[in-house]
Amino acid sequence: MNPIKNAWYVAALAKNVSTTPIKQKLLDCPIVLYRTESGEAVALDDRCPHRFAPLHKGKVVGDSIECPYHGLQFSPDGVCSRNPHGDCKIPAAAKVRRYPLREQDGLIWLWCGEVDVVGSPLSLGEFFDADHRTLISGYYKLNAHIEIVLDNLMDLSHAPFLHPTTLADASNTESLIFEMKQEGDAVIAYHWIPNARVSPQFRPFWPSDVADNRANITWTPPANLQLDVGVTEVGGRPGDGVDLHFAHLLSPAGANETHYFWIAARNYEIGNEEVSRIMEGQVEQAFETEDEPMIEAVAGYMSTPDLLALKPVLLPGDAAAIRVRRMLQLLREKE
Ligand code: FES
Ligand SMILES: [Fe+2]
Repeated sequence: MNPIKNAWYVAALAKNVSTTPIKQKLLDCPIVLYRTESGEAVALDDRCPHRFAPLHKGKVVGDSIECPYHGLQFSPDGVCSRNPHGDCKIPAAAKVRRYPLREQDGLIWLWCGEVDVVGSPLSLGEFFDADHRTLISGYYKLNAHIEIVLDNLMDLSHAPFLHPTTLADASNTESLIFEMKQEGDAVIAYHWIPNARVSPQFRPFWPSDVADNRANITWTPPANLQLDVGVTEVGGRPGDGVDLHFAHLLSPAGANETHYFWIAARNYEIGNEEVSRIMEGQVEQAFETEDEPMIEAVAGYMSTPDLLALKPVLLPGDAAAIRVRRMLQLLREKE
């Protein structure tokens, strides 16, 4: 159950990468992320090839990063650019692995694969529609295999039970309509609750108690999820009401550790900072006190991250998560 290796993964929110280096772990590789003084984001192996000091504890000098131990400097291509010792010659072996990096849509994507770069990171510009929506973002780290986190996000039937006061109305369980479909490489799980109590998260922004609620989530490999969640007038068209375009982007820190980056783009209360802070609090509550403890408890009780090997009881809402797992298994076999 190794995570897929040959893929683009999010390593950081772009706003968190600066000229102060930070450490990140992806696929068990320690990586230093920094921004050159001219603003370019860089990802290198965090281990200095001299005595294996952590480069993220060093400093940025121009475009290079300087090792905090003996001062070797490495340029963005990973090659040593300065040796302050002896005759100052650069030893041929003085280089570190450079990770291909793309910065787009407020995200830093890395390729840590064992083969040359294939394709491009998922483009999210249209989904976020930043000219017409207000974006907030955040990050959590989970002690669970990436596929156990995907199981949680692809199955929103848990919402009325795990999130009865934050994300879903507990009285709406029986009217949930679920449908799943696959389009090429994508798996889409549709959840509709028509003519029902408005989800708690939208109540302050919706004029009546009743609406058509929807939460449709699209997975694309290996672990990118785009959730369209919102409410409309009963019988109205999706898009006419209030909604969030919510990206959940997972990456494997290691076999049983998962990075979870999120960006939510709303089409209401545009530019209202106070609403942004309230929403960040809602996400924090739903995630830190509801999803995260449940995901980690589930991971603790599963003797293997291979869900199907454990022969679980399956419910209708599991169809999408199971399809995703099957597709990941095919990708793994290809690798
Ligand atoms: S460990 Fe980096 S220069 Fe010595
Ligand atoms: Fe949840």
